[in-house]
Amino acid sequence: KSLVGILILLISLCECKKAHCRHKVRKFPEGFLFGTSTAAYQVEGAWDADGKTENIWDHLTHNNPCMIMDCTNGDVAGDSYHNYKRDVEMMRELGLDYYRFSLSWTRILPTSFPDHINEAGVQYYNNLIDEMLKYNIEPMVTLYHWDLPQRLQDLGGWANPNVIEWYADYARVAFGLFGDRVKYWITINEPREICYQGYGADTKAPAVNFKGVGEYLCAKNLLLAHAKAYHIYDEEFRPKYKGSIFISLSGQFYEPESEEYVQAAYESNQFEWAIYAHPIFTETGGFPPVVKDKVAHKSAEQGFFRSRLPEFTPEEVEYIKGSSDFYGLNHYTTYLVYRNESAVGRYDVPSFYDDLGNEHYQPDEWEQGANGFPKVVPWGFYKLLTQIRNDYNNPPMIITENGFSSFGGLNDDDRISYLRQYIDAMLDAMDEGSDIRAYTVWSLMDNFEWMRGYSVRFGLYEVDYESPERTRTPRKSAFMYKEMLRTRSLDW
Ligand code: NOJ
Repeated sequence: KSLVGILILLISLCECKKAHCRHKVRKFPEGFLFGTSTAAYQVEGAWDADGKTENIWDHLTHNNPCMIMDCTNGDVAGDSYHNYKRDVEMMRELGLDYYRFSLSWTRILPTSFPDHINEAGVQYYNNLIDEMLKYNIEPMVTLYHWDLPQRLQDLGGWANPNVIEWYADYARVAFGLFGDRVKYWITINEPREICYQGYGADTKAPAVNFKGVGEYLCAKNLLLAHAKAYHIYDEEFRPKYKGSIFISLSGQFYEPESEEYVQAAYESNQFEWAIYAHPIFTETGGFPPVVKDKVAHKSAEQGFFRSRLPEFTPEEVEYIKGSSDFYGLNHYTTYLVYRNESAVGRYDVPSFYDDLGNEHYQPDEWEQGANGFPKVVPWGFYKLLTQIRNDYNNPPMIITENGFSSFGGLNDDDRISYLRQYIDAMLDAMDEGSDIRAYTVWSLMDNFEWMRGYSVRFGLYEVDYESPERTRTPRKSAFMYKEMLRTRSLDW
């Protein structure tokens, strides 16, 4: 009997050397902050209430409803416009340090311009902010999370250089209205998705689909608009209000499929996200050299008289450089990359993927969220954080989004497992020196997930879309997050 006992003990000791069996408790550094995030169009509803006018998502979903997987829209969504008190109650239940949400441009400025400020819209945000502050929850406000006024889109939107002024005026109004209480400002959420998916393709509003041109024009204007808002805040509002202002970049990571494709993966990362990071976070500024070279080369080959990638003047390069107090990162997943020049030309008109000449994919066996997104690749998060630390001289970072989609239900062990693994990877990067100050789960609650509509659920809280009041119920992951915040540690 005792021999069997010793054997069992030995086997379990060996087993416990494996990572999954080791009991780990990892403490977060002093002062590290936790939040959750949402965006106006995805949760507010009240699409035309109290003077709000149409934005590009209202327009797309009303005119082409079935471009959305389940033919739905954000007309009502979680109805946060009427449920803000419950939303703040959820933040308190979780014990959040801050809550990241976005302002709806057309709710505040129905004409798109500062000639008319909509009192009712301002009141909604004042109510939300004041309710949060009552319980010491800091607002982190995104000025632009994809819902451009449709009127401005009619004039070309982000492809029209005048958008720099339009956006700057809107930003100045917002700083003036809320800057006394908002200390964290995010200028723009995910330029890649705005520019590539919205202008270079048709997978986000306004679905312009002008491949190989639209995404680059948008990129230039957007970076200048961002920098302008940064400088306005820095010069006119920061002296009084002492807040910070930064941009949130999406960063899906590209890993070489094999040794042979190290350069290919490097280039994918440059085209996909460094195109926005390089101008802001490097000493040299401007678009990444490899992007400039490849687009110029391809454009010449195609008979263009100039590169499809517009240039910045030396003054513009300087203006954009350093225009972000933090590197705001939204990260979900990783892809494998290989070079495939023969795939070039697979689009009817030149696209940024033609300029790049790579293919990327995710192996079937990688675990995945609902409707294929996101695949669970925590090591990619670690590698991305390491690359950002190395390439941009270890900028202070805020993880402004990370999260997992399920098909629904309260028992979301898959989300808990994703969050644990990703947070663990982030702590690994921090142990090696990454200067990460805060972490934000996407999302506080279920919401309208753009082209996937309501078919996937990202919330720590489930939203019951059948109930008129859009009842919110915490999922198992909400309890896990709450416990993590209470103990300020990740407990495996
Ligand atoms: C990025 C976007 O910022 C957010 O709006 C979206 O819902 C999440 N990722 C999940 O896809």
